[in-house]
Amino acid sequence: PKVIFSGIQPTGIPHLGNYLGALRQWVKLQNEAAPNTTLLFSVVDLHAITIKQDASELARWRKEMLASLHAIGLEREKSIVFYQSTVAQHAELMWILSCNASMGYLSRMTQWKSKLALPSNTSPFDPSPNSKAALKLGLFSYPVLQAADILLYATTHVPVGEDQAQHLEFARQLAIGFNHTYAPDSESPLLLPPATILSPAKRVMSLTKPTNKMSKSDPDPKSRILITDSKDDIGRKFKSALTDSVAGVSYDREQRPGVSNLVDIMYHMDESVAESPDALARDMKDLSMRALKEKVADTVDEGLRDVRGRYEEVMGRSGGDEFLAEIAKDGSSKAREIAQRTMGNIRRALGME
Ligand code: TYM
Repeated sequence: PKVIFSGIQPTGIPHLGNYLGALRQWVKLQNEAAPNTTLLFSVVDLHAITIKQDASELARWRKEMLASLHAIGLEREKSIVFYQSTVAQHAELMWILSCNASMGYLSRMTQWKSKLALPSNTSPFDPSPNSKAALKLGLFSYPVLQAADILLYATTHVPVGEDQAQHLEFARQLAIGFNHTYAPDSESPLLLPPATILSPAKRVMSLTKPTNKMSKSDPDPKSRILITDSKDDIGRKFKSALTDSVAGVSYDREQRPGVSNLVDIMYHMDESVAESPDALARDMKDLSMRALKEKVADTVDEGLRDVRGRYEEVMGRSGGDEFLAEIAKDGSSKAREIAQRTMGNIRRALGME
């Protein structure tokens, strides 16, 4: 039987990169799943605190993320949706894995290395998130917690965007190493190395800097479309998207990153419009930049309409909060049951039971 697990950080409403690169795939997997498939989707709040968070803001973002997962179409009857921190086994397994995780491997992770260029801090208590003082142990061991998330449920498949591929490979290697150490002769592995599922839209780019991926940490809100943006917001953001001065539309991610990103977004938003991004660009080859942007904006607005409607409905109605709390509570108890089983096996293998 298949077990599908994925996670998303509660750092604001998801953007189009999250949606096309991961979330939409989650819903598709849910809706096409065989009856014996288990699906788990976690709001990974423990990962979020690897950088400093304001408590009331984090509380709001957790809830908004849960509402977003409801809005994209995850259903309680089919998917286990829960807050990571409510299943204590994530942190427990993380410690055990930490004792088997290589510092050298972790220090080669792109996400960690990208932070090492930060300027030195003046004191170890420097509050600036942009100095070396912001480099905490939790940030370094972030991939170990991510591995624990996945391995806790004997996950077979992890649907993510391309930026997570390196973390997934780390989780696989950690599982293989752990099995070798603690169950070398066993027929069935203690921890199951998972496979990665990349959706076709593996890397959606920023609207304002199309050579960077669309990201929630970009300070410019016009660089990304949120899944709850209004028709007007969507129109305005695409209108200010960076393109180039070449006439007409063509698809070339190297030479024309801005235009190609718009074509990609339109294609992935509604794959019925053409056979491929290339074909779509050919269909639109005579359009002006302005007309292209309007067409993309319309397609995105159309594609997000139901999501936006369901989000507003659950956040606006009375009883919406209780409804969301119930989803999380139910998800948490189902997740815990599976997690407890895995931890029992691991404890026995370590001689702790
Ligand atoms: P996070 O919260 O940054 O992103 C959630 C998902 O969105 C994908 N994504 C993108 N895909 C395409 N184009 C983009 N521009 C883009 N930006 C984000 C990410 O690849 C991801 O799938 N470490 C993870 C969360 C996590 C997790 C896990 C994932 C924690 N534990 C276990 C899988 C399994 C993260 O920070 O994702």
